[in-house]
Amino acid sequence: MLRSHTCGELKIEDVNKEVTLSGWVQKVRDKGGLIWIDLRDRYGITQLLIEEGRSDNSVVEAARKLGREFVIKASGKVIERESKNPNILTGSIEIDLTGIEILNASLTPPFTIEDNTDGGEELRMKYRYLDLRRQPLRKNLELRNRLSIETRKYLDGQKFFEIETPYLIKSTPEGARDFVVPSRMNEGQFYALPQSPQTFKQLLMVAGYDRYYQLVKCFRDEDLRADRQPEFTQIDCEMAFVEQDDILSTFEGMVKYLFKTVKGIDCAELPRMDYADAMKYYGSDKPDIRFGMKFVELNDVAKNKGFQIFDDAELVVGIVVEGCADYTRKQLDKLTDFVRKPQIGAKGMIYVKCLSAEQAGNGDGSFKSSVDKFFDQQALKEWADKMRAKSGDLILVLSGETEKVRKQLSELRLEMGNQLELRKSGVFAPLWVVDFPLLEWDEDSGRYHAMHHPFTSPKPEDIDMLDTKPGEVRANAYDLVINGVEIGGGSIRIHDRDLQKLMLKHLGFTDKEAQDQFGFLLNAFEYGAPPHGGIALGFDRLAALFGGQDSIRDFIAFPKNNSGRDIMIDSPSVIADEQLDELKLKVVK
Ligand code: AMO
Repeated sequence: MLRSHTCGELKIEDVNKEVTLSGWVQKVRDKGGLIWIDLRDRYGITQLLIEEGRSDNSVVEAARKLGREFVIKASGKVIERESKNPNILTGSIEIDLTGIEILNASLTPPFTIEDNTDGGEELRMKYRYLDLRRQPLRKNLELRNRLSIETRKYLDGQKFFEIETPYLIKSTPEGARDFVVPSRMNEGQFYALPQSPQTFKQLLMVAGYDRYYQLVKCFRDEDLRADRQPEFTQIDCEMAFVEQDDILSTFEGMVKYLFKTVKGIDCAELPRMDYADAMKYYGSDKPDIRFGMKFVELNDVAKNKGFQIFDDAELVVGIVVEGCADYTRKQLDKLTDFVRKPQIGAKGMIYVKCLSAEQAGNGDGSFKSSVDKFFDQQALKEWADKMRAKSGDLILVLSGETEKVRKQLSELRLEMGNQLELRKSGVFAPLWVVDFPLLEWDEDSGRYHAMHHPFTSPKPEDIDMLDTKPGEVRANAYDLVINGVEIGGGSIRIHDRDLQKLMLKHLGFTDKEAQDQFGFLLNAFEYGAPPHGGIALGFDRLAALFGGQDSIRDFIAFPKNNSGRDIMIDSPSVIADEQLDELKLKVVK
């Protein structure tokens, strides 16, 4: 028998039991006559005790041979500890050892296998199997496992079928580049790995499986960020005979269920915000609504007062930062530097301090701004009134081209949220953003692209504008946003062949191209396609959010680094000439 118990379960009630544990040596403390070993496995850490003179000599000798990460089998009797450790589950007991067997030796690991390791990112990625031994990562994977179980439970309860779809497919246009796989049997031809199972799930609706889901790998060759991996997992879902509200309420139910069962949090009804409002009030289609600081547009009180920068701007817009009128020159300069960073790109920032009587050193307070030359006290009061700023508050204002200035102010708002610690981890603020535009203009290609994907249905009342004002057509599309992160997105689909063809035409596909690429779907729509729609949630993002982290990397057992490499297995890598020949591929050097 290799173990009678795990390293995480023995308690004071087990005192006097004879037990056998197996695991990894976390630490050996040799204090002359007394040796303590911390033995670790997936479940926890148990302290082992050896006493020279009292314990068997062979046990003492074996203990002195141990190094970090040796795998051992240890037997002995559970005893009460003299100095208890309330921080660990097994902290009130230790094992008085009667036997040790070394099951495997270990090289000294290149970093410490502890909660706060001394290993750098690259090193830990290279030895991922060692990093995964650490408690924080183990906890992340445990959370991920719990989430997947509860997701399946919920969807099963709602009569969803989990159906697998193929990985070797044909390109689906989700906006990123495809990873492709050469076909040996079809010379010169390639499969594409799915960016999502989008078209397959729609075909399953045509096939009559009216509630489909899948926890599925998706592959996208795009620039990587903390919340993006080239292969990631979606909770992918589709429903037939539904309208937008049915889908939102089904998945609102899932979000609430997951918060309740996994985090023990009761979630209120999710607010719904129009895309247009999200942009107007938060400058982002994924607003973090854990805190306020909603944008207030100031054109009517700030323009045409002789301040050229505002007069030339399309939009003057600001936020109120509560209680920050006492910001120093240095703090304000830092904020100006922040908005001027090339990634943000504002030219400058205007501030107005709404000074209290005490701060102003007079009877009734006053305003102090960076544009005092152009705006007198009365004018600044008008701003403050419009923005509902109180005395003691700080107003920050940016101006410029509408779309750009909204993005810039959104960054500033988030920065202020961070600085004032308003973006608290452990607080969750989910919402639906609805009524996305159907199309977005792409400067590079000089044409419209589908904002979500080409299968998304326009709002019926907006279809007439497809020819005249394509940029204003709204879609039956929605995103699930939590704490400023896009967790999921979906839409009601087009289920009519002619409308799908029209949509593809607007996206610049000729009839032939549409038939070549999507003929299978267009044909399927000839055979009784039901009204349908769906959503996909980013599973890694959901896990990271629940785990209170921004990066999804440590919620994936074997992730890629920022250059898309797996540095542990050293991939991607060159392949042998024979393999290339077999695939009829040539590498041009
Ligand atoms: P979408 O492209 O919005 O929709 O993707 C859905 C969700 O998947 C997550 N996600 C990612 N997570 C990690 N790394 C990535 N590279 C990555 N890309 C996307 C996000 C995102 O919200 N087929 C449609 C869904 C539908 O219409 O039903 C789709 O894939 O959390």
